[in-house]
Amino acid sequence: MKPIQVGLLGIGTVGSGVYNVLSRKQEEIHRRAGRGIEITMVADLDVERAKGLVGPDVQVVQDARAILANPDIDIVVELIGGYGIAKALVLEAIAAGKHVVTANKALLAVHGTEIFAAASAKGVMVAFEAAVAGGIPIIKALREGLTANRIQWIAGIINGTTNFILSEMRDKGLDFDVVLKEAQRLGYAEADPTFDIEGVDAAHKVTLMSAIAFGIPVQFDKAYVEGITQLGAADIKYAEQLGYRIKLLGITKRADKGIELRVHPSLVPTKRLLANVEGAMNAVVVQGDAVGTTLYYGKGAGSEPTASAVIADLVDIARLHTADPEHRVPHLAFQPHTLDEAMGTLPVLPMSEIVTSYYLRLRVADQAGVLAKVTGLLAEAGVSIDAVLQREADEVGGEGSTQTDLIILTHDIREGTMDAVIAQMQQLPTVLAPITRIRKEELN
Ligand code: HSE
Repeated sequence: MKPIQVGLLGIGTVGSGVYNVLSRKQEEIHRRAGRGIEITMVADLDVERAKGLVGPDVQVVQDARAILANPDIDIVVELIGGYGIAKALVLEAIAAGKHVVTANKALLAVHGTEIFAAASAKGVMVAFEAAVAGGIPIIKALREGLTANRIQWIAGIINGTTNFILSEMRDKGLDFDVVLKEAQRLGYAEADPTFDIEGVDAAHKVTLMSAIAFGIPVQFDKAYVEGITQLGAADIKYAEQLGYRIKLLGITKRADKGIELRVHPSLVPTKRLLANVEGAMNAVVVQGDAVGTTLYYGKGAGSEPTASAVIADLVDIARLHTADPEHRVPHLAFQPHTLDEAMGTLPVLPMSEIVTSYYLRLRVADQAGVLAKVTGLLAEAGVSIDAVLQREADEVGGEGSTQTDLIILTHDIREGTMDAVIAQMQQLPTVLAPITRIRKEELN
C-alpha cells in the first residue's frame, strides 16, 4: 500500500520532534501501521529555518493553504496553536476531506463542538492525543482502554509550568513571583505565561477529558478557572505541616446533580502519589467504577514526548483510514448524537454547587474567644471541622506580635455554604485580613 502522506502546519518544537521521530522509526512504524507514514509537505512562516529541519524530499511552503490544496495529502497535522488562523485551517482541511491531527487544546476546548461536527459530516477524523498531557496517552486510555467504566472522577496535574513553579516554591520556600522569573529564565515558563499560571491551559485540557469521560459536549465556557498567582509561601508551608501539598489540579467529577468541571490550587494529602509528582511532570488519576483508581504519569510537554502522541494519532488514522466512518472510535468516545441528550441529565454545575473540603487561613487577633467565634459560625452553617492549627503569634508576626494565623481544615461541604460562612467570618472584628481559602481534595 502506498505510504499515507502528511502535511505539517508549523514546524517548531513539536513539529521537528514529529519529523525526527517519524524519520528514525520508518520501518517500525510501517510494521505497526501496515503502511508507511511520510511527511511530504511542511508549511511555516520561516521557510529557510524549516528547510534546515527537514530532508530534501520534503516540500516546504510558506502558505499553509498550499498543503490543503494538495490532493495527495491525506492527513494535516496542525501545530500552530491558538484559536485564530489554526481554526480556519483546521475547518478548511476538514472541508477538503483531510484527516486532522492537532495538539491544540485551546482550539478544541473552545470550538470542539463545531470542529467535531464538521469532521463527522465529512467522514474524517480529528485526533488530539497530544492536546492533553503531552506524551501521556490519556485520551486513548479514557476513550478506549476504560470504555467499560462509568467514570466517577478525574484529577490531574496537567500543566507542567505551574507544577514546576509550585515544586520550587515548596522546595525553596520562595514566593510565586520570584520562582516565575526563575522558571522563565530556565525556559520552563513562557515569556507570556498567562494561560499557564492563570489555569487556562489546564482548564482547556480538563474540558476535553471531561467530555470524553462523561459523554458531554466540550464546554470550556462552563469551567471554573483559578490559577496559582495568589498562592503564598506561607500556605504551602502550613499545608505541609498538616500533611498536604498544594497542586494545581484539573478536576472533573460526576456528582448527584451533574458534572463538576474546575481548575484551582488544591491541597492533596502528601501520601497520595499525585502529591509527589514534582517539577514539570504531568499525572492524571482516573477513577472508574469497574477498574477502580488508575494513574497515568509522564512528560506533559517537550518535543519528542509530544511527538510520541502525534505519531500515535497518525498510526491510528493510517489503520482506520479505510474503515467506514461509523465504525471508527467516536471523537469524544460516545456516539455524537448522544452528547446533546446528556447535557440535560449531566449539566456542568456552577461552583456554588460543587462539594469539597477546604483549607482556611485567617489572620486573627491573638486574644480570648476568637477561635470560639470562628468555629461557632462554622458549626451554625453545618460545616464540620477536620483539623485546626494555630501558630504562636511570635512565630507569625515576630516578637511581641498580637496577630496570628489560624488554619482550619473542613470536611466536605457545598461551596455555596462555604462562601456564606467565609463572608460572615470576614465581618468579625478580630479577623484582620482577607481570608485565604484553598480547596482540598482527599482523592480517595
Ligand atoms: N504549557 C503547557 C504546560 C504545555 O506547561 O504544561 C503545553 O500544553
